[in-house]
Amino acid sequence: MEIVVSGIRPTGNLHLGNYFGAIKNFVKMQEENNCYFFIADYHSLTTHPTPDNLHENVKQVLVEYLAAGLNPEKATIYIQSDLPEVCELYLLLNMNAYLGELERCTSFKEKVRKQPENINAGLLTYPTLMAADVIIHKAAKVPVGKDQEQNLEMMRTFARRFNRIYKTEYFPIPTAYNFGEALVKIPGLDGSGKMGKSEGEGNAIFLSDKPEVIRNKVKKAVTDSGPTKMNHNKSEPIENLFTLLKVVSTPDTVTHFNDLYNKCEIRYGDLKKQLAEDIINFTTPLRDKITELSANNDYLRKVVKQGADKARESASKTIKEVREIIGFKKF
Ligand code: TRP
Repeated sequence: MEIVVSGIRPTGNLHLGNYFGAIKNFVKMQEENNCYFFIADYHSLTTHPTPDNLHENVKQVLVEYLAAGLNPEKATIYIQSDLPEVCELYLLLNMNAYLGELERCTSFKEKVRKQPENINAGLLTYPTLMAADVIIHKAAKVPVGKDQEQNLEMMRTFARRFNRIYKTEYFPIPTAYNFGEALVKIPGLDGSGKMGKSEGEGNAIFLSDKPEVIRNKVKKAVTDSGPTKMNHNKSEPIENLFTLLKVVSTPDTVTHFNDLYNKCEIRYGDLKKQLAEDIINFTTPLRDKITELSANNDYLRKVVKQGADKARESASKTIKEVREIIGFKKF
Protein backbone atom coordinates (compact mmCIF):
# COMPACT_ATOMS: atom_id res chain seq x y z
CA MET A 1 0.00 0.00 0.00
CA GLU A 2 1.90 3.04 -1.20
CA ILE A 3 0.79 6.63 -1.09
CA VAL A 4 0.26 7.84 -4.63
CA VAL A 5 -0.70 11.37 -5.64
CA SER A 6 -1.81 12.62 -9.02
CA GLY A 7 -3.14 15.95 -10.19
CA ILE A 8 -5.61 16.23 -13.02
CA ARG A 9 -5.69 19.36 -15.14
CA PRO A 10 -9.24 20.70 -15.47
CA THR A 11 -9.05 21.25 -19.20
CA GLY A 12 -11.21 19.81 -21.89
CA ASN A 13 -13.15 16.60 -22.18
CA LEU A 14 -11.66 13.16 -21.94
CA HIS A 15 -10.99 11.26 -25.14
CA LEU A 16 -10.30 7.58 -25.80
CA GLY A 17 -6.57 8.26 -25.59
CA ASN A 18 -6.95 9.54 -22.01
CA TYR A 19 -9.23 6.64 -21.20
CA PHE A 20 -6.95 3.84 -22.35
CA GLY A 21 -3.86 5.73 -21.20
CA ALA A 22 -3.96 7.35 -17.79
CA ILE A 23 -7.46 6.63 -16.55
CA LYS A 24 -7.49 2.86 -16.90
CA ASN A 25 -4.27 2.84 -14.92
CA PHE A 26 -5.69 5.13 -12.25
CA VAL A 27 -8.61 2.76 -11.88
CA LYS A 28 -6.23 -0.14 -11.37
CA MET A 29 -3.91 1.89 -9.15
CA GLN A 30 -6.67 2.77 -6.71
CA GLU A 31 -7.19 -0.94 -5.96
CA GLU A 32 -3.65 -1.46 -4.76
CA ASN A 33 -2.60 1.86 -3.27
CA ASN A 34 -3.61 4.72 -1.07
CA CYS A 35 -4.37 7.12 -3.91
CA TYR A 36 -5.02 10.83 -3.78
CA PHE A 37 -6.47 12.18 -7.02
CA PHE A 38 -7.19 15.88 -7.16
CA ILE A 39 -8.32 18.39 -9.74
CA ALA A 40 -5.61 21.00 -10.07
CA ASP A 41 -7.76 24.11 -10.19
CA TYR A 42 -5.17 26.39 -8.53
CA HIS A 43 -2.74 25.44 -11.26
CA SER A 44 -5.32 26.22 -13.92
CA LEU A 45 -5.43 29.86 -12.79
CA THR A 46 -2.17 30.46 -14.66
CA THR A 47 -4.33 30.66 -17.79
CA HIS A 48 -6.85 33.11 -16.26
CA PRO A 49 -10.17 31.27 -16.75
CA THR A 50 -13.39 33.19 -16.12
CA PRO A 51 -15.23 32.26 -12.89
CA ASP A 52 -17.90 30.37 -14.86
CA ASN A 53 -15.37 28.51 -16.97
CA LEU A 54 -13.32 27.57 -13.94
CA HIS A 55 -16.26 25.87 -12.27
CA GLU A 56 -17.53 24.27 -15.48
CA ASN A 57 -14.12 22.78 -16.24
CA VAL A 58 -13.65 21.40 -12.75
CA LYS A 59 -17.09 19.84 -12.80
CA GLN A 60 -16.58 18.33 -16.24
CA VAL A 61 -13.34 16.53 -15.36
CA LEU A 62 -14.71 15.41 -12.02
CA VAL A 63 -17.77 13.91 -13.68
CA GLU A 64 -15.80 12.26 -16.46
CA TYR A 65 -13.21 10.71 -14.17
CA LEU A 66 -15.95 9.37 -11.92
CA ALA A 67 -17.80 8.02 -14.94
CA ALA A 68 -14.60 6.37 -16.14
CA GLY A 69 -14.16 4.52 -12.87
CA LEU A 70 -12.38 6.59 -10.23
CA ASN A 71 -13.98 5.39 -7.03
CA PRO A 72 -14.41 7.80 -4.11
CA GLU A 73 -14.70 4.83 -1.73
CA LYS A 74 -11.29 3.55 -2.79
CA ALA A 75 -9.32 6.71 -3.56
CA THR A 76 -9.35 10.17 -2.04
CA ILE A 77 -10.78 12.38 -4.75
CA TYR A 78 -10.74 16.10 -4.06
CA ILE A 79 -10.47 19.56 -5.50
CA GLN A 80 -7.06 21.17 -4.97
CA SER A 81 -8.55 24.48 -3.83
CA ASP A 82 -10.43 22.66 -1.04
CA LEU A 83 -7.05 22.05 0.53
CA PRO A 84 -5.71 25.44 1.70
CA GLU A 85 -2.86 23.60 3.47
CA VAL A 86 -1.28 23.11 0.07
CA CYS A 87 -0.95 26.90 -0.29
CA GLU A 88 0.98 27.13 2.93
CA LEU A 89 3.39 24.39 1.92
CA TYR A 90 3.72 26.07 -1.50
CA LEU A 91 4.74 29.31 0.22
CA LEU A 92 7.23 27.53 2.43
CA LEU A 93 8.77 25.62 -0.49
CA ASN A 94 9.02 28.80 -2.55
CA MET A 95 11.40 30.24 0.03
CA ASN A 96 13.91 27.60 -0.97
CA ALA A 97 13.19 27.47 -4.68
CA TYR A 98 15.65 29.45 -6.77
CA LEU A 99 14.78 31.75 -9.63
CA GLY A 100 17.46 30.20 -11.83
CA GLU A 101 16.26 26.62 -11.51
CA LEU A 102 12.63 27.62 -12.04
CA GLU A 103 13.49 29.66 -15.11
CA ARG A 104 15.41 26.74 -16.55
CA CYS A 105 12.40 24.38 -16.54
CA THR A 106 11.49 23.47 -20.11
CA SER A 107 7.76 23.94 -19.64
CA PHE A 108 8.37 27.44 -18.28
CA LYS A 109 10.73 28.30 -21.15
CA GLU A 110 8.13 27.04 -23.58
CA LYS A 111 5.50 29.33 -22.07
CA VAL A 112 7.88 32.28 -22.31
CA ARG A 113 8.27 31.52 -25.99
CA LYS A 114 4.62 30.83 -26.75
CA GLN A 115 2.76 33.37 -24.62
CA PRO A 116 5.11 36.25 -23.76
CA GLU A 117 2.07 38.36 -22.88
CA ASN A 118 1.26 36.25 -19.81
CA ILE A 119 4.33 35.06 -17.97
CA ASN A 120 3.06 35.20 -14.42
CA ALA A 121 4.71 34.11 -11.18
CA GLY A 122 2.26 31.20 -11.00
CA LEU A 123 3.79 29.75 -14.15
CA LEU A 124 7.28 30.25 -12.78
CA THR A 125 6.42 28.52 -9.52
CA TYR A 126 4.21 25.82 -11.08
CA PRO A 127 6.79 23.17 -10.04
CA THR A 128 6.78 24.25 -6.38
CA LEU A 129 2.99 24.03 -6.24
CA MET A 130 3.21 20.58 -7.80
CA ALA A 131 5.79 19.56 -5.23
CA ALA A 132 3.51 20.81 -2.47
CA ASP A 133 0.59 18.81 -3.95
CA VAL A 134 2.57 15.61 -3.68
CA ILE A 135 4.66 15.91 -0.55
CA ILE A 136 1.78 17.29 1.51
CA HIS A 137 0.62 13.66 1.66
CA LYS A 138 4.19 12.37 2.05
CA ALA A 139 3.62 10.41 -1.15
CA ALA A 140 6.06 7.81 -2.42
CA LYS A 141 4.82 7.65 -6.01
CA VAL A 142 3.58 9.96 -8.74
CA PRO A 143 2.19 8.63 -12.01
CA VAL A 144 3.70 10.93 -14.60
CA GLY A 145 3.68 11.03 -18.35
CA LYS A 146 6.71 12.01 -20.41
CA ASP A 147 5.75 15.69 -20.30
CA GLN A 148 5.82 15.76 -16.49
CA GLU A 149 9.18 14.11 -15.89
CA GLN A 150 10.99 17.35 -15.23
CA ASN A 151 8.28 18.43 -12.81
CA LEU A 152 8.81 15.18 -10.92
CA GLU A 153 12.54 15.89 -10.84
CA MET A 154 11.78 19.31 -9.33
CA MET A 155 9.55 17.75 -6.65
CA ARG A 156 12.39 15.47 -5.71
CA THR A 157 14.77 18.42 -5.54
CA PHE A 158 12.48 20.43 -3.28
CA ALA A 159 11.76 17.49 -0.97
CA ARG A 160 15.45 16.63 -0.71
CA ARG A 161 16.39 20.25 -0.12
CA PHE A 162 13.87 20.62 2.69
CA ASN A 163 15.25 17.51 4.35
CA ARG A 164 18.81 18.77 3.97
CA ILE A 165 18.17 22.30 5.24
CA TYR A 166 16.31 21.08 8.29
CA LYS A 167 18.49 18.03 8.87
CA THR A 168 15.56 15.67 8.76
CA GLU A 169 14.24 12.78 6.73
CA TYR A 170 10.74 14.06 7.03
CA PHE A 171 9.69 14.01 3.38
CA PRO A 172 9.97 10.80 1.34
CA ILE A 173 11.53 11.52 -2.07
CA PRO A 174 8.77 10.68 -4.56
CA THR A 175 9.49 8.48 -7.55
CA ALA A 176 7.60 7.79 -10.78
CA TYR A 177 4.80 5.25 -10.60
CA ASN A 178 5.71 2.60 -13.09
CA PHE A 179 2.81 1.32 -15.18
CA GLY A 180 4.99 -1.30 -16.76
CA GLU A 181 3.58 -2.73 -19.95
CA ALA A 182 0.15 -1.35 -19.26
CA LEU A 183 0.56 1.98 -21.04
CA VAL A 184 -1.30 1.79 -24.35
CA LYS A 185 -0.82 4.52 -26.88
CA ILE A 186 -4.04 5.31 -28.68
CA PRO A 187 -3.62 6.82 -32.14
CA GLY A 188 -5.75 9.64 -33.49
CA LEU A 189 -7.86 9.59 -36.63
CA ASP A 190 -5.70 11.90 -38.70
CA GLY A 191 -3.37 9.14 -39.80
CA SER A 192 -0.35 9.92 -37.66
CA GLY A 193 0.58 10.32 -34.05
CA LYS A 194 -1.45 9.87 -30.93
CA MET A 195 -4.95 10.95 -30.08
CA GLY A 196 -4.99 14.45 -28.65
CA LYS A 197 -7.39 17.30 -28.49
CA SER A 198 -4.89 19.83 -29.80
CA GLU A 199 -4.19 17.80 -32.94
CA GLY A 200 -7.06 19.34 -34.82
CA GLU A 201 -10.79 18.90 -35.15
CA GLY A 202 -11.89 15.30 -35.61
CA ASN A 203 -8.67 13.64 -34.51
CA ALA A 204 -9.95 12.67 -31.07
CA ILE A 205 -13.07 10.81 -30.00
CA PHE A 206 -14.41 12.13 -26.73
CA LEU A 207 -16.22 9.98 -24.20
CA SER A 208 -19.07 12.45 -24.38
CA ASP A 209 -19.36 12.42 -28.20
CA LYS A 210 -22.80 11.50 -29.47
CA PRO A 211 -23.13 8.53 -31.88
CA GLU A 212 -23.62 10.78 -34.95
CA VAL A 213 -20.48 12.68 -34.07
CA ILE A 214 -18.51 9.46 -33.67
CA ARG A 215 -19.77 8.07 -37.01
CA ASN A 216 -18.80 11.29 -38.72
CA LYS A 217 -15.32 11.44 -37.23
CA VAL A 218 -14.57 7.81 -38.05
CA LYS A 219 -15.92 8.24 -41.56
CA LYS A 220 -13.47 11.07 -42.15
CA ALA A 221 -10.49 9.19 -40.69
CA VAL A 222 -7.45 9.14 -42.95
CA THR A 223 -6.86 5.89 -44.92
CA ASP A 224 -4.76 4.91 -47.92
CA SER A 225 -5.47 3.54 -51.38
CA GLY A 226 -5.68 -0.04 -50.11
CA PRO A 227 -3.42 -3.09 -49.91
CA THR A 228 -1.90 -4.56 -53.03
CA LYS A 229 -0.72 -8.08 -53.72
CA MET A 230 2.83 -6.70 -53.64
CA ASN A 231 2.61 -4.92 -50.33
CA HIS A 232 0.99 -6.38 -47.26
CA ASN A 233 2.48 -3.98 -44.74
CA LYS A 234 -0.13 -1.68 -43.32
CA SER A 235 0.47 2.04 -43.68
CA GLU A 236 0.36 4.12 -40.51
CA PRO A 237 -3.25 5.37 -40.96
CA ILE A 238 -4.49 1.79 -41.42
CA GLU A 239 -2.37 0.45 -38.59
CA ASN A 240 -3.99 3.14 -36.43
CA LEU A 241 -7.53 2.09 -37.35
CA PHE A 242 -6.66 -1.50 -36.47
CA THR A 243 -5.18 -0.38 -33.14
CA LEU A 244 -8.47 1.35 -32.32
CA LEU A 245 -10.43 -1.69 -33.46
CA LYS A 246 -8.36 -3.86 -31.13
CA VAL A 247 -9.32 -1.86 -28.06
CA VAL A 248 -13.05 -1.61 -28.74
CA SER A 249 -13.96 -4.68 -30.81
CA THR A 250 -13.97 -8.43 -30.28
CA PRO A 251 -10.91 -10.45 -31.34
CA ASP A 252 -13.10 -12.11 -34.01
CA THR A 253 -13.86 -8.76 -35.59
CA VAL A 254 -10.18 -7.85 -35.65
CA THR A 255 -9.29 -11.19 -37.24
CA HIS A 256 -12.08 -10.80 -39.77
CA PHE A 257 -10.81 -7.45 -41.05
CA ASN A 258 -7.21 -8.55 -40.86
CA ASP A 259 -8.01 -11.51 -43.10
CA LEU A 260 -9.82 -9.28 -45.55
CA TYR A 261 -6.87 -6.92 -45.55
CA ASN A 262 -4.43 -9.76 -46.23
CA LYS A 263 -6.58 -11.03 -49.09
CA CYS A 264 -6.68 -7.47 -50.44
CA GLU A 265 -10.45 -7.63 -50.23
CA ILE A 266 -10.93 -5.12 -47.47
CA ARG A 267 -13.28 -2.21 -47.95
CA TYR A 268 -12.26 0.61 -45.66
CA GLY A 269 -15.84 1.86 -45.60
CA ASP A 270 -16.94 -1.41 -43.95
CA LEU A 271 -14.05 -1.33 -41.53
CA LYS A 272 -14.97 2.21 -40.53
CA LYS A 273 -18.64 1.35 -40.10
CA GLN A 274 -17.77 -1.50 -37.78
CA LEU A 275 -15.21 0.58 -35.89
CA ALA A 276 -17.67 3.43 -35.39
CA GLU A 277 -20.38 1.09 -34.06
CA ASP A 278 -17.96 -0.63 -31.70
CA ILE A 279 -16.68 2.70 -30.40
CA ILE A 280 -20.29 3.77 -29.86
CA ASN A 281 -21.03 0.55 -27.98
CA PHE A 282 -18.02 1.15 -25.84
CA THR A 283 -18.63 4.83 -25.06
CA THR A 284 -22.41 4.78 -24.67
CA PRO A 285 -22.46 3.53 -21.05
CA LEU A 286 -19.76 6.09 -20.20
CA ARG A 287 -21.67 8.88 -21.88
CA ASP A 288 -24.86 7.89 -20.06
CA LYS A 289 -22.97 7.91 -16.79
CA ILE A 290 -21.54 11.35 -17.57
CA THR A 291 -25.03 12.71 -18.25
CA GLU A 292 -26.40 11.15 -15.08
CA LEU A 293 -23.60 12.42 -12.85
CA SER A 294 -23.69 15.92 -14.35
CA ALA A 295 -27.29 16.24 -13.24
CA ASN A 296 -26.59 14.98 -9.74
CA ASN A 297 -25.04 17.90 -7.91
CA ASP A 298 -25.99 16.44 -4.54
CA TYR A 299 -23.86 13.40 -5.20
CA LEU A 300 -20.94 15.45 -6.55
CA ARG A 301 -21.08 17.69 -3.49
CA LYS A 302 -20.91 14.61 -1.28
CA VAL A 303 -17.97 13.18 -3.19
CA VAL A 304 -15.84 16.32 -3.02
CA LYS A 305 -16.73 16.94 0.62
CA GLN A 306 -15.70 13.43 1.58
CA GLY A 307 -12.49 13.79 -0.47
CA ALA A 308 -11.65 17.17 1.04
CA ASP A 309 -12.17 15.84 4.57
CA LYS A 310 -9.88 12.88 3.98
CA ALA A 311 -7.24 14.96 2.18
CA ARG A 312 -7.24 17.64 4.85
CA GLU A 313 -6.71 15.08 7.56
CA SER A 314 -3.44 14.04 5.92
CA ALA A 315 -2.45 17.59 4.87
CA SER A 316 -3.06 19.29 8.18
CA LYS A 317 -0.94 16.72 9.96
CA THR A 318 1.93 17.41 7.55
CA ILE A 319 1.60 21.18 7.90
CA LYS A 320 1.60 20.97 11.67
CA GLU A 321 4.78 18.89 11.64
CA VAL A 322 6.45 21.03 8.99
CA ARG A 323 5.79 24.17 11.03
CA GLU A 324 7.45 22.55 14.00
CA ILE A 325 10.44 21.47 11.93
CA ILE A 326 10.85 24.97 10.49
CA GLY A 327 10.76 26.49 13.94
CA PHE A 328 7.40 28.23 14.24
CA LYS A 329 6.68 28.04 17.94
CA LYS A 330 3.77 28.93 20.15
CA PHE A 331 4.31 31.64 22.74
N1 TRP B 1 0.96 19.35 -14.01
C1 TRP B 1 0.11 18.21 -14.15
C2 TRP B 1 -0.42 18.16 -15.59
O1 TRP B 1 -0.28 19.13 -16.30
C3 TRP B 1 -1.06 18.26 -13.18
C4 TRP B 1 -0.59 18.22 -11.77
C5 TRP B 1 -0.66 19.23 -10.87
C6 TRP B 1 0.03 17.12 -11.13
N2 TRP B 1 -0.14 18.86 -9.68
C7 TRP B 1 0.29 17.55 -9.79
C8 TRP B 1 0.36 15.82 -11.52
C9 TRP B 1 0.90 16.70 -8.88
C10 TRP B 1 0.98 14.97 -10.62
C11 TRP B 1 1.24 15.43 -9.30
O2 TRP B 1 -0.94 17.17 -16.01
